[in-house]
Amino acid sequence: EMAGKCPFGGDRIGGAEGSSPTLSDWYPNRLRVELLHHNAPGANPLGEDFNYAEAFNAIDLEELKQEIKGFLTSSVDWWPSDYNNYGPQMIRMAWHSAGTYRIADGRGGAGEALQRFAPISSWWDNGNTDKSRRLLWPIKQKYGSALSWADLIVLAGNCGLEVMGFPTYGFAGGRHDAWEADDSTYWGPEVWDGKKVNTPDSMVTRDKRWRGQNGDADYDLENPLGATHQSLIYVNPEGPYGKGDPMGSARDIRVSFSRMAMNDEETVALIAGGHAFGKSHGMVPAAEIGAQPEIAPMEQMGLGWHNPKGSGNAENTMTNGIEGSWTPNPTQWDNDYLVNLFKFEWEQTKSPAGALQWTPVDKSAPKTPDAHIPGQMNALMMMTTDIALKVDPEYRKVCEKFLHDFDAFTQAFSKSWYKLTHRDMGPRERYLGAEKVNENDLLWQDPIPVADYDVIDAADIAALKKSIIASGISVSDLVYTAFSAAVTHRSSDKRGGANGGRIALAPQKDWAVNRRTVPVIAALRTVMDEFNDQQHGGKRVSLADLIVLGGCAALEKAAADAGVATKVPFTPGRRDTTQELTDIEMFTWLKPVADGFRNYLDKGFGEISQDVSPEEMFLDKAQLLSLTSPEWVALTGGLRAMNANHDGSPYGIFTDRVGVLTNDFFTVLTSPDFDWKKADEKGMTFSLDNRATGESRFVATRSDLIFGSNGQLRAVAEVYAGSDGHKRFVKAFVKAWDKVMMLDRYDMKV
Ligand code: HEM
Repeated sequence: EMAGKCPFGGDRIGGAEGSSPTLSDWYPNRLRVELLHHNAPGANPLGEDFNYAEAFNAIDLEELKQEIKGFLTSSVDWWPSDYNNYGPQMIRMAWHSAGTYRIADGRGGAGEALQRFAPISSWWDNGNTDKSRRLLWPIKQKYGSALSWADLIVLAGNCGLEVMGFPTYGFAGGRHDAWEADDSTYWGPEVWDGKKVNTPDSMVTRDKRWRGQNGDADYDLENPLGATHQSLIYVNPEGPYGKGDPMGSARDIRVSFSRMAMNDEETVALIAGGHAFGKSHGMVPAAEIGAQPEIAPMEQMGLGWHNPKGSGNAENTMTNGIEGSWTPNPTQWDNDYLVNLFKFEWEQTKSPAGALQWTPVDKSAPKTPDAHIPGQMNALMMMTTDIALKVDPEYRKVCEKFLHDFDAFTQAFSKSWYKLTHRDMGPRERYLGAEKVNENDLLWQDPIPVADYDVIDAADIAALKKSIIASGISVSDLVYTAFSAAVTHRSSDKRGGANGGRIALAPQKDWAVNRRTVPVIAALRTVMDEFNDQQHGGKRVSLADLIVLGGCAALEKAAADAGVATKVPFTPGRRDTTQELTDIEMFTWLKPVADGFRNYLDKGFGEISQDVSPEEMFLDKAQLLSLTSPEWVALTGGLRAMNANHDGSPYGIFTDRVGVLTNDFFTVLTSPDFDWKKADEKGMTFSLDNRATGESRFVATRSDLIFGSNGQLRAVAEVYAGSDGHKRFVKAFVKAWDKVMMLDRYDMKV
């Protein structure tokens, strides 16, 4: 019994801040606008002034690497290293850190060290990566804020490869740690009781994300997912449903790795390369293993998966459940993985933990030393996912090529590893450190050639603005085109954006949503050519700059016409890239299915997204643009005032003064004088009638009315609709506009 009165003043406490049920328990389908403010500056203990680039650049990278390598080839008692080398477990940690990346929305990846937080920290697949990170703590502690966890995790993987004789392609720092769990990324529809221990039994949880049965022509994984099962990084090592079917496994691997933007050759290089090292751990049945970190007892201090057998580590280690090593020398870069995979027939067997794995039929096959017990030799092991590389005809071709050309294999793995671990960093301007690789030859980096000309100055900008407006392109068209160029940017993997002028190249120029920009860009080209022809020195204006400048000029006109004279910031220096430097397939992933800013829904939206509403997709896009809710609301209201709808349609254009930056969108949206009615059965469009006269005034989509129906968005809309709201709105719009135009200008950011 509790002595005395509790601090809340009553005798009995049933809850505190954050206790369930929360809003989302009550209303699971509510639009979670608050997610936009996730990872707010207030959560960052380093403060907004902290300059990571400066701190990181002050490190002697070579010295740091030597220190990491010294540690890798040591062993500590609380978690002894296998074969006296922590390299393999660090490579796996780094791979799992990067391997959550998926190209559809650019989320996941190594960029923020989200492996430290739930749910990722507690996925079954991340078993014992908690130990790998804790082992690195003394190094992290020593370098403090100058070395982010995200950078250290990747660097430890690289050092692991290097100490075992593998030539890496290089390392770039520059990853900024997140300070809270990512509660916004969609990891798939399956849930299980979060209070229970997560064991492989829950790995059969995959049905909801798949369409068709394995083997069907329409076998497909829901987007934007990359993993084939909930709680795994990629695929189940025992094959789909743990049934040990290598062909089924190959299909899963192909879907999954292509979602990570890897082709067949890269996929084989990565798997065969990675499994040249280390071992799998499966000495204890999963059911005997303790809870994952997120729900482990407090005294475990953030570690999980307590193993009750003996010391709970070394020769008793249990991680995934499969037991053994792929090669006779697991701490040396060599071609033994492929050699043995092809040289021997493999048959199914079970690990001590009961997991399904493969062993050579030929008992005279080479053995591999035990990781801890001196003198003990063990049989080689393959997983169903490894056998998959041999049975799938396309993977097999790649394997055979690598089998006969070890140098080609080494090159391919080196480049694929570099891509894997740097994929979500964005342009090379973000790369830090002496090892950063400077060539322009990696297509996945979306290269933009450096400028070999002088950038336009203030006088040129003023003159160009005049020429653009004089050319007769409408405010609407100019705003639409500039916004369309910039809106492809995503803060997740830092791809897209106006820089590079890719809106004028395939595939973007051919997207339905960009149809309206085609004649505008043609007209802007004329302005560009005229300007550039007049230059005698080395000065030029890029198309990318001119597209954004057109938007800025139009916006200044729209604001002035609304009676709020405003200077719209413009920062020149965008460069144009080329078609050859644009990976069409990889840019096609940036094509929107829905974009509320331009009131766009893909033709097949209803079929593509069974469970996602246009407003959820809109929130998703706002988050990828790293907007706050006031910025999101202001941008939408302004774009509507200027009619930046993709087809020029009247949806959400609640004004009789189109092209003028009024706050009419908000005054109509918040007005009780109007009556909204569904205009179609599904409630995708609406019409607005004057209550008094019954006259139909305006039409709207869900991406318009959400700003009046959602409480949090309405609160902001009311500010902009207030009698004192117009100037505030114009200011907010211009600021948010400039933010969007500058999102990809990593050349201007520290
Ligand atoms: C270990 C599965 C791809 C690198 C493991 C383990 C599993 C596994 C189950 C054993 C974990 C344990 O019990 O300790 C898979 C699957 C893959 C895949 C299903 C894809 C189909 C990769 C890739 C890399 C990689 C792409 C790196 C490029 C490693 C390393 C280890 C390992 C180095 C050894 C870890 C240690 O010794 O502690 N993998 N893996 N794997 N994996 Fe993979």
